[in-house]
Amino acid sequence: MEPRAGGVVAKQWPMGSSTRFYTFKVQKMRITKMCKSKDIVTVNGMFPGPVVYAQEDDRIIVKVTNETPYNATIHWHGVRQRLSCWSDGPSYITQCPIQAGQTFTYEFTLVQQKGTMLWHAHFSWLRASVYGAIVVYPKTGVPYPFKYPYEEHIIILGEYWHKNLLQLEKATLASGGGPPTADAYTINGHPGPNYNCSNNDVYKIDVVPGKTYLLRLISAALNMETFFTISNHMLTIVEADAEYTKPYTVDRVMLGPGQTINVLVTADQSIGRFSMAMGPYMSAQNVPFQNISAIGYFQYVGSTPNSVSLSAQLPSFNDNLAVKTVMDGLRSLNPVDVPLEIDNNLFFTIGLNVEKCHSSNPNKSCQGPNGGVLAASMNNVSFIRPKISLLQAYYNELQGHYTEDFPGVPLKVYDFVNGPNTIPNDTQSLNGTRTKVLEYGSRVQLILQDTGTVSTENHPIHLHGYSFYVVGYGSGNYNPSTAKLNLVDPPYMNTIGVPVGGWAAIRFTADNPGVWFMHCHLEIHLSWGLSMAFIVKNGKGELETLPHPPADMPRC
Ligand code: C2O
Repeated sequence: MEPRAGGVVAKQWPMGSSTRFYTFKVQKMRITKMCKSKDIVTVNGMFPGPVVYAQEDDRIIVKVTNETPYNATIHWHGVRQRLSCWSDGPSYITQCPIQAGQTFTYEFTLVQQKGTMLWHAHFSWLRASVYGAIVVYPKTGVPYPFKYPYEEHIIILGEYWHKNLLQLEKATLASGGGPPTADAYTINGHPGPNYNCSNNDVYKIDVVPGKTYLLRLISAALNMETFFTISNHMLTIVEADAEYTKPYTVDRVMLGPGQTINVLVTADQSIGRFSMAMGPYMSAQNVPFQNISAIGYFQYVGSTPNSVSLSAQLPSFNDNLAVKTVMDGLRSLNPVDVPLEIDNNLFFTIGLNVEKCHSSNPNKSCQGPNGGVLAASMNNVSFIRPKISLLQAYYNELQGHYTEDFPGVPLKVYDFVNGPNTIPNDTQSLNGTRTKVLEYGSRVQLILQDTGTVSTENHPIHLHGYSFYVVGYGSGNYNPSTAKLNLVDPPYMNTIGVPVGGWAAIRFTADNPGVWFMHCHLEIHLSWGLSMAFIVKNGKGELETLPHPPADMPRC
């Protein structure tokens, strides 16, 4: 049995067994996709960016230099940042952005962590092109808990725009309406042959008949949840969000942005060229989306280069059952230490809002439903970004940057899923930079409840600084007397797709001090305010106390 970071804390300063150094240069790069050229922001001239390779318990040091004219930060999504909140990366939460020409060095230890994660920019919509994989191997001599694959491949799903993403965000927020759809989906940066002028821009894996491959699937998409499938091949899930799962075989998976799934695929078909496909999962009503799928090739050695590819069958865009089927099979492989008693019973609603139009030019700036302005919230509070980082304000006890009154339960109780929706009269939110304070070591249960205020929708909710046990989920409004919880082998995740028009229950022990962002990982929802932050207080002793900030902490 393996110890878990969630429960009994290893009482030792997390220095790491060995140290790995990386240099990240955030740069502009000229790129041509679908016969159009543009400058994208990326790292070290690679798209997707460089892979961070490590082993469990390693210390990671990444020197990030921002060579673009924009602000930037890097977030290590899924890294639990034990006692290293300063290196977490969300701008205005744990740090000010790294300004043009500046450098910041991130340092953290992968305490009891292994598997597939991702890093991405955490400023504005920069992460649309600034992302890459983190691959953490088990310690030397520790095998995978499944048959060793013949080869491993990283598969990063993304979205691509011909326009500049920072301008796109600005224009979208100024319009009050929804975001433009992506120009393409991408597999490892390649859209594939379904798009105009993209026939040869295809990601391909050459496979040997009979061999088994480990695919590390990562979603770095911006505003869309997506399905992934390979024609004629089954996917056996063995890991989700960098934690082993009981093997579970499906023919497709859904990944929300930020989620990772490792699957084993055996090349057990007759020799040929098979399609790997990525396409939309859109659970909300009346939201436009890109409907053309990205294609890559899963190509057997021995097939001819112009052999016809067998096209993959993606579920339809609103196939909620396909999503549930995957969720139902996710179970932790190893014994868990899920908190059985709870100190903090929290209930957060998540969803969209429409605010009344206060503009003198409503045609231009109030393009939301019924002439309103789109927003989003948790417990009906839309998060307002502070001017300096919350962590700096908290650590230095600077007044006036945030409040500690984020409600633990909704201020108004109603039928959340079918609730009031006279737009915009009943659909407004409160604003604020509100946080929820947690005592060190307190055991938390949090119910995340989707609302139908504008439309119900599956929201990928991500918590920084922790993994949490997903002990339950269901459709409709959460009802404690009928909800079935799995306290035996729930999956241990960092991003949970809360079912459309439903709820999810998560548990964790607040034993990592700092300020931890929690938000919807659909970037547009984050821009609209679907986020909040936990402040986890220090415990007693050095090993329960957030250290001083590094000397090179960026200034706002
Ligand atoms: Cu992957 Cu706050 O993000």
